[in-house]
Amino acid sequence: MPITILIGAQWGDEGKGRAVDWLASSADIVARYAGGDNAGHTVALGSEVYKLHLVPSGILHENVVSIMGNGMVINPVNLVREIQSLREQGLDIGPERLVISSRAHIITPAHVELDRARELALGDEKIGTTLRGIGPAYLDKTNRAGIRTGDMLLDIEVFAERLSVAVAATNADLQQQGLASLDPTAAAESYLEAADYLRPYIKDVSIYLHEALKSGKRVVCEGAQGTMLDIDHGSYPFVTSSSPTAGGALTGLGVGPLFVERVIGVAKAFSTRVGGGPMPTELNGEIADRLRGTGANFWDEYGTTTGRPRRCGWLDVVMLRYAASVNGLSELMLTKMDILSGFDELKLAVAYQIDGRRHDYPPVTNEQLERAVPIYESLPGWRDDITGCRALDELPGAARNYVKRVAELCDVPIRSVSVGPEREQLVTIF
Ligand code: GDP
Ligand code: IMO
Ligand code: MG
Repeated sequence: MPITILIGAQWGDEGKGRAVDWLASSADIVARYAGGDNAGHTVALGSEVYKLHLVPSGILHENVVSIMGNGMVINPVNLVREIQSLREQGLDIGPERLVISSRAHIITPAHVELDRARELALGDEKIGTTLRGIGPAYLDKTNRAGIRTGDMLLDIEVFAERLSVAVAATNADLQQQGLASLDPTAAAESYLEAADYLRPYIKDVSIYLHEALKSGKRVVCEGAQGTMLDIDHGSYPFVTSSSPTAGGALTGLGVGPLFVERVIGVAKAFSTRVGGGPMPTELNGEIADRLRGTGANFWDEYGTTTGRPRRCGWLDVVMLRYAASVNGLSELMLTKMDILSGFDELKLAVAYQIDGRRHDYPPVTNEQLERAVPIYESLPGWRDDITGCRALDELPGAARNYVKRVAELCDVPIRSVSVGPEREQLVTIF
């Protein structure tokens, strides 16, 4: 059964890009199934650092076909820009290596403006979105008013007309909030160029994958965002508007569940979150600053898409346990273990105390989650630099103990631990 689904087990930015890059070395296809250019997946390869927003991380492997699924929302202008910039970094990208679903939805300039308008209107209550138009695009999709990538295959005049109508329709909303209107014709123009460029890449992805799976090809489904940002299972409304969890991979690509063999959850060895919403283990002060880094390194905790500093705290096992359950994780991968080197003591949030009661899973309302006091278990830290470790027995005892304890507390085996951002900085455990 040749599908491996890779999911972010926290609030996004767990290191999915580097995890997919690792899995892609034994895959034929890497397929993104949700989200859009709100994602920022970093893959470091020697002196090059690739920051992928829409293009799947499999693109770094010559023999892998990268697929963008129907569950995605795609800004065609930004996609063309990304393809061109990856080409400038030396990657060979053409329609034989990148396939775009004809059923994905298009993010229009109106969606981007509406995202901004909505966040402005929410004021202090804002979600802290990436302002890429993600929410408004999914809203049009479910409202059955969206424009799809397959529409770029239509007569170009028809596509232009659809875009102009969609942009003009949002001008009333923008004006109501005191924002400038968009010129529907100008907005359509840049999209026509992008449509021309992308047309050869657009195919029926579900059929493509079905044929590939039947002939024994191995597929890695690349999650974007994370479990706690899922529209159904995350800390609603502080979520994205798609389904990053395991079920989303099936609907977001049009493949059946019987092909799935592994569901890997990627979790950072500590917690980070960018944007608003509750985060029970959030810290402020020296520990958070150490976890975040100063921004001098590309792997420090500053958003790949927006540059915003990420909120940091100890590992929240309550959330991980929940992610294991929601996604049916078969295994976990722990990333950024190297960042924990040098602490005397490390803490794991093993449960929450809310209004005098112990919770082993997150409560459903944000009001309760805001009141959650983590119950911490303390573990000894380690001093050694672990960035050169490649096998479990090379890790210091305290690091091995940390990995073992997290696996026990989530009841999911940890089969890989990354100790640096580079491809080979990985400890695999069998
Ligand atoms: P994604 O959105 O889940 O793909 O994660 P991001 O790319 O947004 O953020 C993860 C960051 O951590 C990236 O800069 C990675 O290069 C970096 N990273 C991943 N694994 C490791 C690791 O084991 N150690 C260190 N130091 N950095 C890592
Ligand atoms: P990757 O794939 C971290 C967050 C935003 C905001 C909320 C809604 O790199 O892990 P949106 O623009 O989607 O409407 O924003 O979701 N968010 C992410 N946080 N990593 C991401 O992607 C994210 N994509 C969206 O910060 O809180
Ligand atoms: Mg990211």
